[in-house]
This record gives sequence, C-alpha cells and structure tokens, in this order.
Amino acid sequence: MENRRPFISGNWKMFKTGPEAVEAAGKISMIVADVLSDIDVMIAPTFTALAPVADKLEDSPVLIGAQNLFWESEGAYTGEISAEMIASAGCECVIIGHSERRQYFNETDESVNKKIKAAISSKLIPIMCIGETESEREEEKTFSVLDKQIKKGLEGLPSEELKSLIIAYEPVWAIGTGKTATSDQAQEVHKYIRSLLENIYDADFAGSVRILYGGSVKPNNVAELMERKDIDGALVGGASLDPETFSKIVHYK
Ligand code: 13P
Repeated sequence: MENRRPFISGNWKMFKTGPEAVEAAGKISMIVADVLSDIDVMIAPTFTALAPVADKLEDSPVLIGAQNLFWESEGAYTGEISAEMIASAGCECVIIGHSERRQYFNETDESVNKKIKAAISSKLIPIMCIGETESEREEEKTFSVLDKQIKKGLEGLPSEELKSLIIAYEPVWAIGTGKTATSDQAQEVHKYIRSLLENIYDADFAGSVRILYGGSVKPNNVAELMERKDIDGALVGGASLDPETFSKIVHYK
C-alpha cells in the first residue's frame, strides 16, 4: 500500500547566522503548525545553527536536517562532522550528495554511499540528492545519470536498512535558476526513479520511498508539482529563506 506523507523541506545552504536561523525557525514553526499533523516539514540550517535551532524547536514537530556529514564516526578529520554529532545536535535528517557538493566539493557517488550508511547507523533520515546537468539532459542522458547515482549511492544497502530513505530529484539546471522543471518533466523522472527502485528492490519498497522535487520551487508552482502521483514533497532552496514564503509553499493545498 502506498502511504507517503508529504515532506516539504527547506535547504538554507550557506545563509543565515545562528541568531538569524533561530529567529526564522521560530517563525516557521508557528506559522506552519496547523499542517504538521498531515505534512512533514524540515529545515536545514548551517552546522553552527543546528544546536540553537534544535533548542528553539524543542517542542515543535518541525524536523531539523544537516546539509552534509562525514562518514567516519570520529577521528583526526579536521573540519568534518560525524553523523552522531549531527544527531546529538538535535537533527533527525541529513541532506546527502547535493549537487552543489558534487560540483564544488568533489562529492562522488562513492562518498554519497558511505555517507548514507553513516546516516543510517546514527538513525538519521538520509535525503539523497540526485539530478542531471543541463548538458546531460540535452544529450538525453538523464535516465542513465540517475541510474548510476542511485545504484552506486545505494550500493550494498538492503531495503530493510533504507526504510527512512528519502530521494530528492534536483535537476541541476533548475537549481537557483528560476527554471523549474515542468510538472510533466518532474513526474516523468520521479516515475522512472520509482521503477528503478522496483527493479533493484521490489514494488513494496519502491512504493514506500518518498521522492522530493527540488529546483526553483516557489509558492506559485508547488501545488501543480505536488498534485503529481510520484512527487511526494519538495526540497526548497531560495524560497525557504523567508518564513512567509516558505509557509506558502508548505500550505500548498
Ligand atoms: P532553489 O530552490 O534555490 O532552486 O534550490 C534548490 C535546492 O538546491 C534545494 O536543495
């Protein structure tokens, strides 16, 4: 049976200081409170804001996510943060393999795989980001790119360990560009991702995984995307920074 709770999330990227993040998180938790019985809402502030935001949202069901992690549990890895540290800062989720990390910080499908394993061992919900670039789409490589990202990203992970997995399809050409994929384009890809999960695992598992769309999601296009059968939520960048705008997206219905 397919019973996927909508998941609307904000990736704050490298924006907002700790106090700014706390203020925005506090506002968001109040203005989205009315839908939290039906929808999962997550915000992902920067590392330094995680603990203060978690403090602020202690009594709120709004989920908190980190934007990255390192796969080792501890050690001499200057500048890195482990899954356990993220969980103990008060996070429930972690974004893994965002295209900006793949593009600027040498993130690969192999590192994504290790990070997903680390997230799962610390009981964090992994949000695995995948997506093709503009030239890959033009060369009709979208499906083969996603195939590789998913197969390598999930390598060695049985479905029993992936019960909380969330996949975020974020076409690189739609991120921060104002160019949203049409709901037809997004639905086509989401359906493909689900069929791929069915091939690798089984229909039950494929039907249970939430697949989010990300890339220029705004209050005026979210409803059309969310209406589509295989689109279970959104990962919002720019439009999640302002609490009022993000709340409009959360209230898409
Ligand atoms: P924008 O919504 O700013 O296009 O960013 C999308 C994104 O990268 C979310 O992770």
